[in-house]
Amino acid sequence: MFTASQILDKINSHIAALQFIRTPEGLYQPIEYVLSLGGKRIRPVLMLMAYNLYKEDIASVYAPATGVEVYHNYTLLHDDLMDRADLRRGKPTVHKIWNDNTAILSGDAMLVMAYQYMTDCAPEYLKEVLDLFSRTALEICEGQQMDMEFEFRKDVSEAEYLDMIRLKTAVLLASALKIGAILAGASALDADFLYQFGVRIGIAFQLRDDLLDIYGDTEVFGKKIGGDILCNKKTYMLIKALERVDELERKNLNFWLDAETFDPVEKIQAVTSIYDRLNIRKICENKIREYYDLAMESLNAVSVIEEKKYELKNVVKLLMYREI
Ligand code: IPE
Ligand code: IPE
Ligand code: MG
Ligand code: MG
Ligand code: MG
Repeated sequence: MFTASQILDKINSHIAALQFIRTPEGLYQPIEYVLSLGGKRIRPVLMLMAYNLYKEDIASVYAPATGVEVYHNYTLLHDDLMDRADLRRGKPTVHKIWNDNTAILSGDAMLVMAYQYMTDCAPEYLKEVLDLFSRTALEICEGQQMDMEFEFRKDVSEAEYLDMIRLKTAVLLASALKIGAILAGASALDADFLYQFGVRIGIAFQLRDDLLDIYGDTEVFGKKIGGDILCNKKTYMLIKALERVDELERKNLNFWLDAETFDPVEKIQAVTSIYDRLNIRKICENKIREYYDLAMESLNAVSVIEEKKYELKNVVKLLMYREI
C-alpha cells in the first residue's frame, strides 16, 4: 500500500511526462500551461487511493486518474471565465493570458481529452465508469448553472446552497473515489460508501473554499481574495450573514449587494467586516466539521481493514484545514 504523498508524486510525474503540445499551438499551449501549474491533484489522488484500498498495481489506473484531473482543469478554464477570475494557482488565468475564446475552446478540447483518458480503462468496467463520469459531468454543469443564477438572488436557502455545491464540486470527488473502487473490483456497497464519503468531503471542501475566498492569503491560496464578494456569490458565508443581520446591518449589506458601481476594495472590506461582526467564520468552520464527521462515518462503513483507511483519513484531515 502506498502513502498519499507517494501517490501524489507518482501521478504528478505521470502527468508531467505527458505531451500536450500539438498544432495549432494556440489550442494546446493553454492546456500545457494550466496542467503545468499543478494544484493539489486531489481528485486523481483520491481515485488512486480508493483503488489502492483493494489493489496494489496503481499504475494500471493512471489513465482514468489523469482523465479526472484533465476534466477538473477544463472546468477551471470555464469557471474562471464565468467568475471573471484573473488569478489561479498564483498565476494569471488562461483567459487573461490568451483570451475568452481560447479559454472556451481549449477547455472544450480538454473535456474531449478527459474522455480519451477515462476510456483507457479495463473494458469490463468501461460502461459503468463512463455512465458515472458522464452523469457527474452533467451534474457539474447543473451546479455551475445554479451557482450563476444564485448571483441574482438574495433568498437562496442553506439547503439550496448545499445542493448547488454538491453538484458543482462534491460529485467529482465522489466519482473519483467510486471509479477507483469500481476499477479495483470492489463491492457495489463499498463503491457507494466511498461515493457518499466523497460527497461529504466535497461539501466540506467547497465550504472551506468559500471561507478561504475571504479569509485566505492570496500568496498561499493562489486566487484573489474577495472574488466571491464581488460577484455576489451566494456562498455559505453570505447566506448565513443574510440570515443573521439586524435591520440596520441588512440595509448596509443590501447596499453592497445592489451597488452597480463600486470600489472593489471597499466592497470586499465592507462585506468582510459584516461577516466578522456576525462571527460567520466560526459558523462556517462548524459546518465544515459537521460534514467532516459525516464523511468519517461513510468511510468507517467501507469494508476494508482500519489500517488501510489511515492514509485516506489523513488526507481528508489535511484538506479540511487547508490554506491552499
Ligand atoms: C478548485 O479546486 C475548484 C473547487 C472545486 C473549489 P481545487 O481547490 O482542487 O484546485 P486545484 O486543482 O488544487 O488548483
Ligand atoms: C468551483 O467553484 C466549481 C467548479 C470549478 C466546477 P468556485 O468558483 O468557487 O471555484 P474557484 O474558487 O474559482 O476555484
Ligand atoms: Mg471560480
Ligand atoms: Mg465558480
Ligand atoms: Mg471559490
